[in-house]
Amino acid sequence: MDWGLKNRIASIIKPTNNRGVMLAIDHGYFLGPTEKLEVPKRTISPLLKYCDSLMVTRGIVRTSVDPNFPVPIVLRVSGGSSIIGEDLSNEKITTSVKDAVRINASALAMSIFVGAKYEHNSLVSLGNLVNEAEEYGLPVLAVTAVGKELAKRDARYLSLSCRIAAEFGAHIVKTYYCDNFEKVVNSCPVPVIIAGGPKIPERDALALTYNGIKAGAAGVDMGRNIWQSQYPIPMIRAVRAIVHSNYNLNQAYELFKKLCKEYPVRNNPQNFPGRLPQNQQRPQQNQPKPQQNQQRPPQKPQQPKPQQNQPRPPQNSSQSHSKTNNVHHKSHNSQSHNRTNQDLHKNSSQSHSKTNNVHHKRHSNQNHNNSLSQNHRNQNQKNNQSQLRQKHNKFLQLFCFDYGTLERWM
Ligand code: 5RP
Repeated sequence: MDWGLKNRIASIIKPTNNRGVMLAIDHGYFLGPTEKLEVPKRTISPLLKYCDSLMVTRGIVRTSVDPNFPVPIVLRVSGGSSIIGEDLSNEKITTSVKDAVRINASALAMSIFVGAKYEHNSLVSLGNLVNEAEEYGLPVLAVTAVGKELAKRDARYLSLSCRIAAEFGAHIVKTYYCDNFEKVVNSCPVPVIIAGGPKIPERDALALTYNGIKAGAAGVDMGRNIWQSQYPIPMIRAVRAIVHSNYNLNQAYELFKKLCKEYPVRNNPQNFPGRLPQNQQRPQQNQPKPQQNQQRPPQKPQQPKPQQNQPRPPQNSSQSHSKTNNVHHKSHNSQSHNRTNQDLHKNSSQSHSKTNNVHHKRHSNQNHNNSLSQNHRNQNQKNNQSQLRQKHNKFLQLFCFDYGTLERWM
């Protein structure tokens, strides 16, 4: 193998143990401002020193990564479809090898879509990219099974796509962990690294890492389960401990909890509410809504909300998620309670009393009617939103994408 190629691969998969920790932050290339990656520099900077390499697009590398920091860049060079477009598998090479050399990339990354509509294009592109990249001693990382192919995430499908990627000349393959992952690794002649996928509780993400490494993965290319955590630095350090220091799951989780006490929780979490696992999502929008005209029981005075930016004590992640869920639930309930006829009427009278009492008396009946019809309009609007949200939730589950990002399209 060419010296340059070997040398670059060694900067990503460390030759001391044949493992590596790649931080994935390329999500914006089809998801836009992904939750907690809205300001990439803010997300990336504190994590840089804990990863062996950074998977990123040229736009973000140029604007948000310090060129003085010696982190190997795995440059995503494919794209061309977005989350709201027709078909995510319709990608082409969008960044030239020449530009990758200018950026001083250590590897190129592109997605292949085995079994999807544009399978042929993506595989031919992989072959062509390898041809060109090898002329410069640049390795190629093939990303498999993104998009709706995620639904087929089993060892049979993943071995098929990883093996095809290797056959086309990919030097490293990224895929998702699945049961019987040994089969995927053993049938792929180049190193296989695993993505984290959508945000899950920290212990589960560490379990996924541990199981992947145990089954023979050469490391991780992980994104959301690191930077969507309330504790990104403890998380990446715990992942690193599994990959490079052979920590088992319990040791890694203990390390995570210990580090949580040392690092402050992410700034301003109100702006970046953490994604909950799918079975503990925010309150379902299609839950039966209380009848608007029903008399409501008197409400308890609202408790002051806990300070969101106080560091939460590290705890069992499933507990913490159900607590978060409760907070969401409470706030949702109180929001819907606030929208009673009574309140609408009260609000409307309040605003009128600020203007003119005579007007208020003369128009009070009319106002009441207006409030009621406004109320109906609100209800209709909410029903429409709920239908849309249901549609998008289905889409979300199918494509396994990020709730926060999709939410912004609704
Ligand atoms: C998207 C990608 C991502 O880099 C990949 O999914 C890894 O990130 P995560 O751990 O968040 O799944 O290639 O196409």
